[in-house]
Amino acid sequence: MLFTKKNSLNGELTVPGDKSISHRTIMLGALADGTTEVHGFLQGADCLSSIACFRSMGIEIENRQNVVRIHGKGLHGLQTPAAILDVGNSGTTTRLMSGILAAQPFACTVTGDASIQKRPMGRIITPLTQMGADITSIQGNGCAPLRIQGRPLTGIHYVSPVASAQVKSAVLLAGLYAEGETSVTEPYLSRNHTELMLEAFGGDIHCSGSTATVLPAARLEAQNISVPGDISSAAYFIAAGLITPHSCITIRNVGINPTRDGILEVCKAMGADIQIEVIPQTVGEPIADITVRTSQLTGTVIEGGVIPRLIDEIPIIAILACFAEGTTIIKDAQELKVKESNRIDVMVKNLAAMGADIEATDDGMIIRGGTPLHGAVIDSKLDHRIAMSFAIAGINAEGETEITGGECVTISYPDFYQDLSQLSK
Ligand code: S3P
Repeated sequence: MLFTKKNSLNGELTVPGDKSISHRTIMLGALADGTTEVHGFLQGADCLSSIACFRSMGIEIENRQNVVRIHGKGLHGLQTPAAILDVGNSGTTTRLMSGILAAQPFACTVTGDASIQKRPMGRIITPLTQMGADITSIQGNGCAPLRIQGRPLTGIHYVSPVASAQVKSAVLLAGLYAEGETSVTEPYLSRNHTELMLEAFGGDIHCSGSTATVLPAARLEAQNISVPGDISSAAYFIAAGLITPHSCITIRNVGINPTRDGILEVCKAMGADIQIEVIPQTVGEPIADITVRTSQLTGTVIEGGVIPRLIDEIPIIAILACFAEGTTIIKDAQELKVKESNRIDVMVKNLAAMGADIEATDDGMIIRGGTPLHGAVIDSKLDHRIAMSFAIAGINAEGETEITGGECVTISYPDFYQDLSQLSK
């Protein structure tokens, strides 16, 4: 895929539904009594993996263009899957579903693509085992394939060493089936979509600071859910509007849950011209229309509690930092090493190839902005967020940028390239 410089980007768009929320509608919808109707479901490969896994456990899921209907069978309605559960590239499917599987009265195997088979699963195996689960990494390397033999579970209070919504959610979902109370305390609060959705489905869950506590559920009730646009997808257009000359872009209907809005905070700290028009909601997650205009940015320091609130946006923030005046320092972001790719390594190598002044650190990166970027061949490592970030870099660089494996954007944003090109017409 080839990218060359654009003179301006203008217009408005709606980005696809939130990936994290879409996964959770399938899982809670499957465990609820009745039919859950979802509008704005993300038709990305990751969420389709969640659909496929729950279908193979006997859940009927209608996937129509405008609506997804999940015919829930209740907390005890899942059936033994006939084959291995294939999660594709999806860490969220793997970890959240493992929490549910740990408590089912059957055994199964969960695996996915080459990237999934390298991602750490010890972080869910440890707490789930403490709850009484029988879950093993078949190769003994702490990664998928996982063999999970469901068993009766007991509630624990888990103090997680990482701020990870996937770890927290795996434990809370297992907690729906455990004896007694289950709680998770994180070093910093990670995205809270599981907690919000469990509450909406009638679960007994309460949250205080960075601790979430769930009690075993008697039943969950099907819901109608409208999924907001994914702020992680909107982030590419926010960045594009800020760094491309003569631009003004409005992104409508974006989820701005405070556990996800770190990118907005960082843009403001960098001096961005960004307007956030909140759309009043009576139920569900907060949403807003976001308008950005070309801005002269300045470097900033990103660390601590904001990191989990923008963890998936760090690749595109690194691009922003190249166009800012001064130095941007990203710290406390070791988690980047265990995403779909090692995002510290991949960002630093690829941005250096484009001429950026960037260095990797143990827990992040340091970027000295202001050096113009030039085209290069970018290896996306089949990581969707890397490919999208470098498409935005490529349209702001001199010469040609070629992204290999760029089709991997289908994981979270199938129409990304069309949506981008429509803004430069
Ligand atoms: C997600 C949580 C985050 C995020 C991922 C989606 C989720 O991962 O990076 O893209 O839906 O719970 P961690 O929880 O591992 O940080």
